This record gives sequence, structure tokens and C-alpha cells, in this order.
Amino acid sequence: MSLNGEAGLTTSIWTATGETPARPGLDADITTDVCVVGAGIAGLTTAYLLACEGRKVVVLDDGPIGGGETGRTTAHLTSALDDRYHELERMHGEVGARLAAESHAAAIDRIEAIIRDEAIACDFERVDGYLFVQPDASTEQLILEREACHRVGLSAVTLLERAPLGSFDTGSCLHFPNQAQFHPLRYLEGLVGGLERRGGRVFLGTHADQIEGGTPARVTTALGHVVTAQTIVVATNTPVQDIVTIHTKQMAYRTFVVGANVPAGSVPKILLWDTADPYHYVRLAKGADGSAVLVVGGEDHKAGQEDDAEERWARLESWARERFPVESIAYRWSGQVMEPADGLAFIGLNPGDDSVYVATGDSGNGMTHGTIAGILLTDLIVGRENAWAKVYDPSRLPLRALAKYTQENLNTAAQFKDWVTPGEVDSVSEIEPGSGAIVRRGVAKVAAFRDDDGSLVELSATCTHLGCIVHFNSSERSWDCPCHGSRFDVYGRVLNGPAISNLGPAEE
Ligand SMILES: Cc1cc2nc3c(=O)[nH]c(=O)nc-3n(C[C@H](O)[C@H](O)[C@H](O)COP(=O)(O)OP(=O)(O)OC[C@H]3O[C@@H](n4cnc5c(N)ncnc54)[C@H](O)[C@@H]3O)c2cc1C
Ligand code: FES
Repeated sequence: MSLNGEAGLTTSIWTATGETPARPGLDADITTDVCVVGAGIAGLTTAYLLACEGRKVVVLDDGPIGGGETGRTTAHLTSALDDRYHELERMHGEVGARLAAESHAAAIDRIEAIIRDEAIACDFERVDGYLFVQPDASTEQLILEREACHRVGLSAVTLLERAPLGSFDTGSCLHFPNQAQFHPLRYLEGLVGGLERRGGRVFLGTHADQIEGGTPARVTTALGHVVTAQTIVVATNTPVQDIVTIHTKQMAYRTFVVGANVPAGSVPKILLWDTADPYHYVRLAKGADGSAVLVVGGEDHKAGQEDDAEERWARLESWARERFPVESIAYRWSGQVMEPADGLAFIGLNPGDDSVYVATGDSGNGMTHGTIAGILLTDLIVGRENAWAKVYDPSRLPLRALAKYTQENLNTAAQFKDWVTPGEVDSVSEIEPGSGAIVRRGVAKVAAFRDDDGSLVELSATCTHLGCIVHFNSSERSWDCPCHGSRFDVYGRVLNGPAISNLGPAEE
């Protein structure tokens, strides 16, 4: 985690309007039934539901609660999946797509039930969702998707002439009733309360350095303390203990968000998505003073392969201004999503392990995938059958998504070219305060960052996951790996997996 304990420099509307509780770091060896690594929605939902089953649970996180992607989300709770049901049917069959639809709808219901049971004040509201096509695109894809929705059990989905917006005409759209939205960090705070009331414990600022399966399983922290457990759940957004298997089946993308002030009552409370590539996603939220903020996301790119956030935020702003009564921009942030090659998350036993479980590959549906992880992993750990297990099995091969799988892995392989290219600057003297660049030094590459006070931080540019060369992300002030999305702060501390270790010192 970075100096501020967050996964980047920018601040989301949730971090600006919700404070999560502080907890101490782990300072002794302990034994428990289940050790969950990661205090985002996947880890905390799993921990909470296991505690409800009477299991002794310990959660470790190296940042604050929700300091990963859960604090950077836009928190649409929806069963209208990013990868579309007609595609999911092709990749997972009608039964698989039906289980996906059922599980996401069940996840929204479970979030609502937990909020009711634990009396969590997190602005949860049922809202309707609308999916519309680009102005020049045919509505055929909407008709195709509506038919698929009906086949997988979402029988209430209908085709409308336009979404209920006064400010612009979306044209034809699909209507998904009974979706939802909430404030994700306030929800996590409620989960922590429910977990701790049942005897669970949360340790923050505690980096898991080593995760070993077996009987018993063990997590060793950066300070050398050991958690001994029957079971470990790795809920670190992307698994930090798996070196290769899962990382060939999912890819890391950066995605960008602006929060725009709009007049109260000028935009209805709905979820809105288009079919652009990358697509836009829109909802309303409350700003710090309770004012209406239109949250617009999109403009994704592969992690570590572009550094043009300003342009992306500007395009989101103009997209929003063309369609909504935007007064000013109050928030701008970015985050990372893991895109599975075949559209569904990987939730279950880590391939080859019998006591380590993972939850990853959320796509843009991580609020519900994280909740499905909580439900499914709890069932698997307590030994209860769950019909969703097969469709989310982390060992599955993306056989019907081979084209995407191959294309993405060729893209990853191509990143190793960075080993033979020159540096981005000839000398560190060319680096301005507040920016970073890669410098070649003999056979090695150095990641050099000049702090605002002019001091220089030099690190090895070799990603500690599988050795690609990192690239500077100037908007978040991080070093991002173009291969599988590991990220490091400017002092080399790991922010996002799959890397588990910090960048090394600069090599001569
Ligand atoms: C901009 C944006 C918009 C999105 N919009 C939506 C949306 O509208 N709807 C939706 O459903 N999903 C959305 N998503 C996706 C969703 O936010 C994520 O998939 C979800 O939050 C991931 O939750 P998680 O618990 O798996 O991971 P995280 O929230 O990232 O939690 C992982 C935790 O693990 C910790 N960690 C990592 N490594 C270690 C280690 N070695 N030791 C200790 N701790 C460690 C991190 O500090 C972090 O707190 C969006 C994502 C982004 C970025
Ligand atoms: S994330 Fe895999 S090599 Fe960097």
C-alpha cells in the first residue's frame, strides 16, 4: 500500500464521504479457523458470512478497510452483466449463464438482507438499470440480449424506446428492473461491525508476505508474524500467491471516473450503461454536503500500457456535459478491474491447493461477484453443496474464449520487448519534479521518480511478479506493470498483485 494506504493518489467520492474504522496491525502469532487476506468486499463478505456460521475468522489487509478497488468502484449492484448473456451462453452454455444470472440477483438480495440485519446506513436503494446502444448502432444486439436474458431467467427485462431521462434521448434500451446502488465503504464498515460482534478480528497495515497451503495453512506477515489456519481465503482482488495459472486467464484494465455536480432532481436515480467499447457507466450519488453528484465511468485501457489519464477524464467530462446538466467536476479517480477471458469470476479452491481459496476475475461486476464469493466460499468451506461452484471454478479452462485468451496472452508476451528498448529518458536530470521515467543502465532498467522537493528515488524497474518492466502512471503516481497489472508506489511498495513483494533497489 502507498503512503496514504490507498491504491493510488486520486480520491474517490466514497473515500471523500465515508470513513472506515482503523484497526491495529498484527503483532503476534495467532491461530484461527480461517484467515482471509484482503479487506475489500470479497474478503469482508466471506469473513462476515463465515463468522455467521460460527467460524473463528481473522482478516489481514496491508492498507485500510476498502483501500483497494472497493474504495474506487462506482457500486452499481446489477445482474446486467458486462459480458452480456448472449455471450455468456456461448461461453458457459445456457445452464452456466442461468447460474450466473441467478447468482448475481441473489447477491443483490443478500446485500439487502445483510444491510437490514446489521442495520447498515449505506444509502442502499433499489433502482432500475438501462442499457442503450450507440446512436448509429442497430438495436439488434439489444433484441439478442433481451432474448438471452429471458432464457437465463431474467424475464422482467424489456425493450423500451428510450430510458426515462429528460436531458437526452438514449434511443432504444433494455430495462433491467430492481437493480440497486449503495455507498461501498459504509457497507464495508457495517460488515466489519457484524464480523467483530461474532468474534472475528481485523488487522490492518499488515502485509501478507507468504501464503502457504497445507495442513495447517500459514500466512506470514511482512513483520514475520504467523497466522496458522485450517483455511486461507486470498481475496486480494488478484491472487498474490498464484504465480501463473489464473493470471493467464484474466487481464488487468485501468478504468476512469468523474463525479459531476448536477442540480438536485435534474437526473433520475437510475443505473445507465451504453454498449461503446469501452462502455460508459453512470449513476447518481451524494456528495459531501448531500448534493447530487453524477458518477460517470469508462475510458478503460490495459494497465501499464498508457499514461494519458487527463485526456480520458476530459473525454468522460465532455461525454457527460453533452448529455446531462453538468455544473462542475467535483471528483476524478481511477481504479483497476480484472477482466476474465470468459466473462465470469474465479471463485473457489486455488488450482492445485486444498486449503487455499481465491476470489478474483470480477470484471466490472465486483460488488456482486465479491458477494457471490462470500456466499460460495462459505458454502465450500463449511462443506455445503452450492450449484454455482462449477461455473465459477478457478480451475476451468476458457475453452470457448480461446480467441480472447490468445490475443491477451500475446499482448502480455509482447511486453517483454521492453527489456531491449532504450530508456524513456537518457538521464535522470530530464525528470521533472512529481514525475517518473524509465532509464537504461547497462543491461538493467531503473524506475526513477523525482519527488516534489526535487529528491530522486531510484528502484529496479523489474516487476517482482514475472519480470516485465514497469511504466509510470502519472495520475496515480505509481509504477504499473503492463503484463498482469501489478502496481507499486513511487517508493516501490506493492499496491496491487499479482506481485506480493516490493520493487528491488536500482541495479547498476
Ligand atoms: C472505477 C471502478 C468502477 C467499478 N464499478 C463497479 C460497479 O459499478 N459495480 C460492480 O459490481 N463492480 C464495479 N467495479 C469492480 C469492483 O469495484 C471490484 O471488482 C471490487 O471492488 C473488488 O473487490 P475485492 O474485495 O476483490 O478487492 P479489493 O477491494 O481490491 O480488496 C483487496 C484488498 O486486498 C488487500 N491486499 C492485497 N494484497 C495484499 C497482501 N499481500 N497482504 C495484505 N493485504 C493485501 C488490498 O489492500 C485490498 O484492500 C469497479 C471497479 C472500478 C475500479
Ligand atoms: S504483473 Fe506479471 S510480470 Fe508484472
